[in-house]
Amino acid sequence: PRLLFRPNFTQYSGYLTSSSGSGGSRRLFYWLVESSHVDASTAPLVLWMNGSSVGGLLMTNGPFLANDRAELERNDFAWNRLANVLYIDSPSGVGLSEPGPTDPTELNDNATTRLNLGALLHFYSLFPEYRGRAFYIAGESYAGIYIPLLASAIIDGGHRPGLINLKGIAVGNGLHMPYNDSVFESHRRALTDAMGISYSYRGSSVMKTNKQRTMPQYTCILLKDSRRVNPYNIAQRCYSDGQLDNYLYLNSTGLTSFLNDADARVALGVNENFAVNFTICNDTLFSEYIQSVRDVLGEFQSLANHNVPVLLYTGVLDYMLPVGLTLQLLERLPPDPVSRQDPWFWCLRKPGYGLQIGGIQRSYLGGRIRYRTMIGTGHFVATDRPEIGLQLVQDLLTAGLGHSTTESCIATAASVDWDSNLGWRFAGLNFYDCSAAC
Ligand SMILES: *[C@@H]1O[C@H](CO)[C@@H](O)[C@H](O)[C@H]1NC(C)=O
Ligand SMILES: *[C@@H]1O[C@H](CO)[C@@H](O)[C@H](O)[C@H]1NC(C)=O
Ligand SMILES: *[C@@H]1O[C@H](CO)[C@@H](O)[C@H](O)[C@H]1NC(C)=O
Ligand SMILES: *[C@@H]1O[C@H](CO)[C@@H](O)[C@H](O)[C@H]1NC(C)=O
Ligand SMILES: *[C@@H]1O[C@H](CO)[C@@H](O)[C@H](O)[C@H]1NC(C)=O
Ligand SMILES: *[C@@H]1O[C@H](CO)[C@@H](O)[C@H](O)[C@H]1NC(C)=O
Ligand SMILES: *[C@@H]1O[C@H](CO)[C@@H](O)[C@H](O)[C@H]1NC(C)=O
Repeated sequence: PRLLFRPNFTQYSGYLTSSSGSGGSRRLFYWLVESSHVDASTAPLVLWMNGSSVGGLLMTNGPFLANDRAELERNDFAWNRLANVLYIDSPSGVGLSEPGPTDPTELNDNATTRLNLGALLHFYSLFPEYRGRAFYIAGESYAGIYIPLLASAIIDGGHRPGLINLKGIAVGNGLHMPYNDSVFESHRRALTDAMGISYSYRGSSVMKTNKQRTMPQYTCILLKDSRRVNPYNIAQRCYSDGQLDNYLYLNSTGLTSFLNDADARVALGVNENFAVNFTICNDTLFSEYIQSVRDVLGEFQSLANHNVPVLLYTGVLDYMLPVGLTLQLLERLPPDPVSRQDPWFWCLRKPGYGLQIGGIQRSYLGGRIRYRTMIGTGHFVATDRPEIGLQLVQDLLTAGLGHSTTESCIATAASVDWDSNLGWRFAGLNFYDCSAAC
């Protein structure tokens, strides 16, 4: 229903059942879209996670995007051009998944990791054709904790490579450490200073305390000239006035209406015995969730040591999880002796565009951990710049193969006048045209 074109790829949706330990068994909603441009029977499998990942499908990197009239339009930069893509709403209580455990102490990262692994194992039993197929996990934001924990659980559980053939992970604008107000604030100030933004008021930061953690909630950033900018992309206007149910600052009205449409829910196999109305963010869950008390650097190292490439990237216009955070964490690793910091490029195959600087790349542990800044994008990289998002997944899929577009471009474009200070100079919306370099 509400689809404006006829897709030529196969889709499946429904529930993956997982046990989350003392929380009991839970059904997580999934939507699998098989590949449209490469042979689906051999293409790799990518799991995308961003909370309500189905929301991500319909707004970011899925084969169709929900418009204002709750119809689905074709997305020319869909990730299923390159791979089969699996979307799971996780943890329980998010999106169309079954409501979470009644015991709120079970709303934590360890329980979520068990839940995600259980759901994945159920997926492989439902879809045996994917066993041993190259598998990648990508996501953004809080998935900066879920993804390395899930990837480590796959390794520790001995599920590789016959069943879950984990070949790499990617996280955009991830949270990889416990929230620390003073650390976040100093990186945010570095960002706004570098951008020349002055503001009289940072937006209200309502501190919510929940046993083990404190999480601030931000409203729009109010500039001195009284304009409001979006904390998830400081080059964009703010959509909401910071009402909690709108705090993600993207207008998700269209996809929310689609996912609450009775015919669409029947087609998707939504189980009305427990599914509630779709909301892009579950505020109850947000306020009850218990965040990890440590960072995930150890998981990144362990993945690298198991030859699982890690790609971390940050849209530099994000104020919420600002660019310096991940870099500061990674700087505790020994630097890569070969390439420490280089520009990376993206190639837009359009007349007059060509090769352009995408940001900077640093690598660690022999290149198995790569960190990139992404210019001209905020928190939601693939939403802000879908063509860059598509190149990212391409680079993720080719990471282990040694012939990524990005790397070969770097090799031939050595003489770019480079700013060592995190590429701030390139943080604005204008791309530096360096097509002559390649
Ligand atoms: C599916 O449709 C797209 C868009 O029309 C087309 O580019 C692609 O080649 C088609 N794929 C197959 C396998 O037919
Ligand atoms: C997932 O992505 C969609 C689209 O970019 C966004 O609206 C939503 O807020 C994201 N969820 C999280 C938790 O980041
Ligand atoms: C969000 O989009 C809907 C249409 O889908 C529109 O009616 C509404 O005004 C938009 N909200 C904002 C805050 O722009
Ligand atoms: C939010 O999550 C809680 C806990 O899992 C669940 O009980 C509730 O139904 C969810 N609400 C919505 C609107 O999804
Ligand atoms: C989560 O799991 C880790 C590793 O197994 C363990 O060290 C930690 O104590 C657990 N945390 C909680 C809150 O259960
Ligand atoms: C937060 O970071 C500051 C500065 O690095 C540090 O002094 C403080 O101990 C940290 N707080 C917590 C709770 O880790
Ligand atoms: C759920 O959505 C339906 C259809 O959009 C609406 O009629 C109903 O009132 C909503 N229920 C709640 C509890 O918001």
